[in-house]
Amino acid sequence: MSHSEAESLHAAAPWWQPRPGRHLSIQGGQALTGIYPVSGAKNAVLALMMSSLLTPGLVTLHNVPCILDVAVLANLLQGLGVNLSWSHGSHGLSVTLCADHVHPARIDRALVTRMRASVLLLGTVLARCGEVWLPMPGGDDIGLRGIDFHIAGLRAMGARIDLDGGVVHATAPEGLHGADIRLPFPSVGATQNLLLAAVLAQGTTVIRNAAREPENIDLAQCLGQMGAVISGIGSDELTIEGGRVLGGAVHQVMPDRIELGTMACAAATTDGELLLRHGRMELLGAAAPLFGAAGVELREVADGVIARRAAGGLRGTDIVTGPYPGFATDLQSPAMALLAMAPGASAVTETMFEQRFRHVDELRKMGANISVQGRTGFIRGVPHLAGARVTATDVRAAAALVLAGLAAQGETILDGLDHLDRGYDRMEEKLGACGARLRRGDRFEG
Ligand code: UD1
Repeated sequence: MSHSEAESLHAAAPWWQPRPGRHLSIQGGQALTGIYPVSGAKNAVLALMMSSLLTPGLVTLHNVPCILDVAVLANLLQGLGVNLSWSHGSHGLSVTLCADHVHPARIDRALVTRMRASVLLLGTVLARCGEVWLPMPGGDDIGLRGIDFHIAGLRAMGARIDLDGGVVHATAPEGLHGADIRLPFPSVGATQNLLLAAVLAQGTTVIRNAAREPENIDLAQCLGQMGAVISGIGSDELTIEGGRVLGGAVHQVMPDRIELGTMACAAATTDGELLLRHGRMELLGAAAPLFGAAGVELREVADGVIARRAAGGLRGTDIVTGPYPGFATDLQSPAMALLAMAPGASAVTETMFEQRFRHVDELRKMGANISVQGRTGFIRGVPHLAGARVTATDVRAAAALVLAGLAAQGETILDGLDHLDRGYDRMEEKLGACGARLRRGDRFEG
């Protein structure tokens, strides 16, 4: 990240600053014990921040995770004219967003290409301003692929949308209107985008085959507090009575179920015991029983979930990812790190994203026995992984490699820390408080 980029992020989110050190050294083999507070969910807070674009009223969010993606989105929103004020208190980090004026023309390409959630600017800015230009990652080549459900849904609501020079240009000169939309697949982002647009569109919108992820429930509940009329929340069919004038809201961001699941695996692989404070078992969906089958014992208590290795030890098991309440694709790489050390055979099938096995090569460097055929990774558990120099290629792979490093024998050096910082709030401090030995630096032999 360039110096000027870092400065503009810091200006929009003063709590954020680049972390010194390009590599993370992890001394494996320490059992993790203690209290690990689960932060606010990355995938909820980004959509919740976007909801502020729909109202001139004040939207206050509590329990905001201190992560790079939030700083990037803060910077993007600031560029659109949104005023953000931050505070720290008993609810952790809080932000109040005021979008009484929105200037749709100023969407920064460099920031948009940093995260896919910026596609939510399409529905929100279009609904609020009647027009939006949104740069696409990769310019012309990428076309509208990957956001076709978003585009088709907004078109059904009356939007005109073209791709011009790598920029999506959408207009709705007459405003958006309600529509009956069936998603070809329960896309999380498309459900959020269409929901956000539909609350300002005139008339009734029905979103069928909607994604039921808990983050979408969190968003719908916040929109409800702002005055939107939404029924079917939590089901696969959302009905939105649009066109109300929205006011502000005060909302607590839900706990991050991916951090919860990842740290539950960390407790079990290191043979420790963690109280994952603020975690709730139901957020894990199908991952809870599957982790149980793999030897991760989970017990819900008043203030969270206690995770540790089951008395019978780790065991190989089969996993297939799917939309919620199926096994979350974002837990697939941490689960692979766990199963790499679980006696027996496992098969992990990824149904959501084609390219989501890039962590496999890195786990192999640590001694994992994994082969990939098509969309399935076949794993033969090994007694232990060994520390190695590895690189994170995406946000979830980063967490999986930290998990592998914590359980491995010897030192692991992790590169690609931007990915870790994108999605995990103070992970090293929180792990350090539970006995992990990690430090950032620039000069490791590796
Ligand atoms: C969100 C999450 C991401 C998670 C994913 C699936 C955020 C910021 N990110 O991503 O962490 O891994 O849900 O749980 O919340 N698709 C299309 N066309 C579209 C939209 C999606 O083909 O218009 C495809 C995608 O390529 C993918 C699948 O649908 O294969 C699921 O994608 P989607 O649910 O939209 O994921 P995101 O919202 O991008």
